[in-house]
Amino acid sequence: MTNIPPQAQLGEMITGYWISQAIYAAAKFGIADLLNEGSLTVDELATATATKPDLLYRHLRALASVGIFAEEDHKRFSLTPLAEPLRSDIQGSQRSLALMMGEDQYRAWGNLADTVETGDNAYEKVFGKPIFDHLAEQPEKARIFDDAMTGIHGRETGAIIDAYDFSGINVIADIGGGNGSKISSILQSYPDMKGILFDLPHVVGRTRPNIEAAGLSGRCQLVDGDFFQSVPAGADAYIMRHIIHDWDDEKSLTILKNCHSVMSSGSKLLLVESVIPPGNDPFMGKFLDLAMMLIPGGKERTENEYHELYDKAGFDLVRIVPTSTEVSVIEGVRR
Ligand SMILES: C[S@@+](CC[C@H](N)C(=O)[O-])C[C@H]1O[C@@H](n2cnc3c(N)ncnc32)[C@H](O)[C@@H]1O
Repeated sequence: MTNIPPQAQLGEMITGYWISQAIYAAAKFGIADLLNEGSLTVDELATATATKPDLLYRHLRALASVGIFAEEDHKRFSLTPLAEPLRSDIQGSQRSLALMMGEDQYRAWGNLADTVETGDNAYEKVFGKPIFDHLAEQPEKARIFDDAMTGIHGRETGAIIDAYDFSGINVIADIGGGNGSKISSILQSYPDMKGILFDLPHVVGRTRPNIEAAGLSGRCQLVDGDFFQSVPAGADAYIMRHIIHDWDDEKSLTILKNCHSVMSSGSKLLLVESVIPPGNDPFMGKFLDLAMMLIPGGKERTENEYHELYDKAGFDLVRIVPTSTEVSVIEGVRR
């Protein structure tokens, strides 16, 4: 039980974006990378980032007050455990996530009230086009998006592999596989398995070097295309993590039916999503659901909603396997 009075708790929630925007600005300036070799004075940091030393000092002092960077004597700043993941070159980096959330997605979130009132998609209202069309025209933002997916969902990969037994699958197709981090981990855990990664052409172009660097070019085929048109045949399991939540039921059914048409009877459909639980307990998936409403125009679903979707697409939902993170593996079998 917390002893903070409700007004103070609510006040902290209301001003929550102060912290997230301060983190975003520090990520944009690359402060954590600059501090990687050791502490620096604010003047040194300001010179390196082309910012105003007195204002940068106030910015970093505020972040240090919540444990992100530490202020030492003589206006020197150093990394802290909470600042470390803002470095760009480390496993589990959160820098791209901070950039993506603090920039375009923050602007879309500013339209939440409008979207709830009108039903209009916030991202399209702000940027004039759907997110995946926008990213296709903005290579740097698209690269940040790919990385941010690992930032936000990367922890789920090990949890999925721990919770779900992939043995018996000969070829797994990762539809909308993004930067390849998930299929690489699955293939590394199952040395006899082969993989197909499918995504939009510009994404696959950036993913190829990652698959090569993981030493998996011989076992993982890269295919580009549009899952609203078709998906590649030839796998006995189709996995999609955080794909179906991007879309409304009609579009989701198009993707699922495209999978169905290349799958044979008895092969597996594995959706990895946050299945919305009943009740009022904290569950970030309920906020991820708002992000889906505002940005791609999709939704998180309940167990019943997944049952209905699977049934309409020609799959039997066999079981929902929880993981140590909020996501579950929703196993279906093609009828
Ligand atoms: C939310 S991300 C999830 C990425 C990855 N599955 C993960 O869990 O990190 C959605 C992915 O769907 C891909 N995508 C969006 N529209 C697509 C389309 N029409 N055809 C194929 N892939 C698409 C995006 O490029 C992106 O990689």
